[in-house]
Amino acid sequence: MSPRAEPRACVMGHGVAYSRSPLMHGHWLRTLQLDGGYDLVDVAPEAFEDFLRHLARHGYVGGNVTRPHKDAAFRLVDDRDGAVEAIGAVNTVWLEDGRLAGGNTDAEGFLANLDQQAPGWDVAGGLAIVLGAGGAARAVVYALLERGFDVGVVNRTVARGDDLVRHFRARPRSWPRSWPRSWAFEELPRLLPDARFLVNTTSLGAKGQPPLDINLQRVRPEAVVCDINYVPLETGLLRAARHLGHRTADGLGMLMHQGVPGFARWFGVRPAVTPGLRQLLESDIRAREGAG
Ligand code: ATR
Repeated sequence: MSPRAEPRACVMGHGVAYSRSPLMHGHWLRTLQLDGGYDLVDVAPEAFEDFLRHLARHGYVGGNVTRPHKDAAFRLVDDRDGAVEAIGAVNTVWLEDGRLAGGNTDAEGFLANLDQQAPGWDVAGGLAIVLGAGGAARAVVYALLERGFDVGVVNRTVARGDDLVRHFRARPRSWPRSWPRSWAFEELPRLLPDARFLVNTTSLGAKGQPPLDINLQRVRPEAVVCDINYVPLETGLLRAARHLGHRTADGLGMLMHQGVPGFARWFGVRPAVTPGLRQLLESDIRAREGAG
């Protein structure tokens, strides 16, 4: 009798060597004393469909999907959960009776992180500005609409922002309470004084990317500022916000919280987001931040 292979999962992305998902899932496997593994797999866009469709043949029971494959994964999975249908992107996949199921845990992770890092952040409601209009932005917009915000999407390519708005307008009439609106970056100075929440979902400000150059001087002091990038831990946006006295939430918390449901699917145990895990990831990021 051949020994049963240990379950393995992976994160599928392209140009995402910075990903701390392997470190995080490895920590959970170790601390929970589970047999299993979690790899970083670089898959070029042209190879993604084949890789995803033959996940089991590649030795995986499931995995995370990240930049730039979340939209492609949405089209390729056999079954989608409710959040996936609303967001139009997949960040978590697993095999179920031979079928490829897709979920999206980004919205859940985004909200859990803000609830933890900035309690009461959503109480006042009002205008939430989302920078970016990609797959990550759709998850964030979905989450903000769920919490009752009016959402303004600001994107370099206005047509893409408009597409995002159309995506949500096509949802059933009972949802959401208000529709998001789309704006050009040039409109940002006019919008910022009304914002109660500001989040960057673009890659601007992440390590190796151009800076996100916006002036926060006219943002009201009680507004909470968030960046979903986590390398560097404190992006230029978050640093500027902190200097102006805003409450902030970083992207590392979202990474940790969005990882929980996938791990539970692949390995059968729900892991915890602990200070120890944050410390491990923070020291790894800090250690390598200066390393070019
Ligand atoms: P993700 O799944 O992480 O959202 P994505 O779908 O590739 O990734 O979206 C990336 C987002 O970052 C987009 O909003 C993109 O703006 P465009 O739609 O105009 O491309 C934004 N972005 C990336 N590089 C940018 C840059 N140099 N300046 C402004 N926005 C940028």
